[in-house]
Amino acid sequence: MPKRPIEPFRIKVTEPISLLTEEARHQKIAEAGYNVFRLAAQDIFIDFLTDSGTGAMSQQQWAGLMIGDESYAGSRNWFHFEKTIQDIFQKKFVIPCHQGRVAENIFFSTILKKGDYVPNNTHFDTTRANTMHKGGIAVDMPCAELRDESSDFHFKGNFDIDRLRRFISEHGPEKIPVVIITVTNNSVGGLPVSMQNISEVSAICGEYGIPLFFDAARYAENAYYIKKYEPSYEDRDVMSIAQEMCGYADGIMMSCKKDGLANMGGFLAVNDEKLAGKLKELLILIEGFLTYGGLNGRDMEAIAIGLKEALREDYLEYRTGQIEYFGNLIQHAGCPIVTPTGGHAVFIDAGKLLSHLPSDYLPAQSFTIELYRRGGIRAVEIGTLMFGGTDPNTGETLIAQKELVRLAVPRRMYTSSHIEYAAEIIAAIVKDKDKLRGYKIVQEPTYLRHFTCVLEEMTGNPAGTIAH
Ligand code: F0G
Repeated sequence: MPKRPIEPFRIKVTEPISLLTEEARHQKIAEAGYNVFRLAAQDIFIDFLTDSGTGAMSQQQWAGLMIGDESYAGSRNWFHFEKTIQDIFQKKFVIPCHQGRVAENIFFSTILKKGDYVPNNTHFDTTRANTMHKGGIAVDMPCAELRDESSDFHFKGNFDIDRLRRFISEHGPEKIPVVIITVTNNSVGGLPVSMQNISEVSAICGEYGIPLFFDAARYAENAYYIKKYEPSYEDRDVMSIAQEMCGYADGIMMSCKKDGLANMGGFLAVNDEKLAGKLKELLILIEGFLTYGGLNGRDMEAIAIGLKEALREDYLEYRTGQIEYFGNLIQHAGCPIVTPTGGHAVFIDAGKLLSHLPSDYLPAQSFTIELYRRGGIRAVEIGTLMFGGTDPNTGETLIAQKELVRLAVPRRMYTSSHIEYAAEIIAAIVKDKDKLRGYKIVQEPTYLRHFTCVLEEMTGNPAGTIAH
């Protein structure tokens, strides 16, 4: 059996969860138009929708809330927040924001011109959307190893260095105001980026005078993977690895809802004083004063504490171990997943498992619905429901490259028995996989359809497959 990680904490406060009856679950998901975003959280037993802002705070963080200083300007929690970020991320100027996408918006509004390119190992949706919103062109450059499913290379989150170099010489550095590395690379499975890769990207950027920024939402998980898998880092403490990583970047954008171990928060941090001045002007206009930027004093305290707790080795060993354990149990049940498992989620390959359902039957959504029906579990489809539809420019019908289901695990929230329960439900679905039917969209908005669309279960299965 796979190795079970031991939680390096005990539980002091509990929040009840309950499993509705099977009949009620069938009714709730039908009422939600077979869209899990439309379910009420109280109707969910185990919620793997996202790891963002959903984790549990520590006793130190809860105690920190009590020393919140809600002064408009210069609160003591701001100084703690600022100093912690300066120490870990090695940057002089800190700009607080209420979440990651605001940091992105302020940054891109300041540096992008229409038609500029932004290369990234892989953009997260909000980073891409904020780039496009300012007229920029978001270009993903994941490494070649990612496409090799049989490879167990640990740093599949890496940047494609050759492609970056070719791209810069083709388009010219003046059209590229920034290069971004997303650590870990969320969109490809939360897979890490190696220090070697970071240093190579940094060298190329240095050669052409292009600033390098990190999208650092999961920086601690990335630093831990470097310690675990990159030669010569095994004896280093994770804090010093994080500092070394960040030393390569000119600036940081971060959503503190992940490795800040907080429920809300974000920031930008840079060394360039002139750029900091411009970012601060916009901050005051849209978020708040320079020393709170849309956050409560008490929240800045919780984040300052959380950013450091996230670097504790016992926590990171358990955190990444829990995802690996979950992934191993799911594979053991005969369900294909994206390997290796990354830092924050297991991705089920529903396209492979439900091979009787073509992409336009939304196999990953079918699996997601079945998870809720069978076990009260909420996951999220990352496939044709999310990325498909009609291309607004060409009118072409789009289908996703892969039909995946993401099970994102909130930090310090669920125990091994919750994980084992979820794996048992998945094993039961695998046994009955041929019975799963397709879904079709009957109502959809123009943008980001997966959040609000309404679906219907199809009555038959595709021609040539077994009908039930
Ligand atoms: N960057 C990355 C890599 C992210 O994963 C996210 C959010 C953001 C930026 C935006 O941050 O939510 O604070 O505005 N990811 C969440 C997820 C929503 O479910 O993966 P935010």
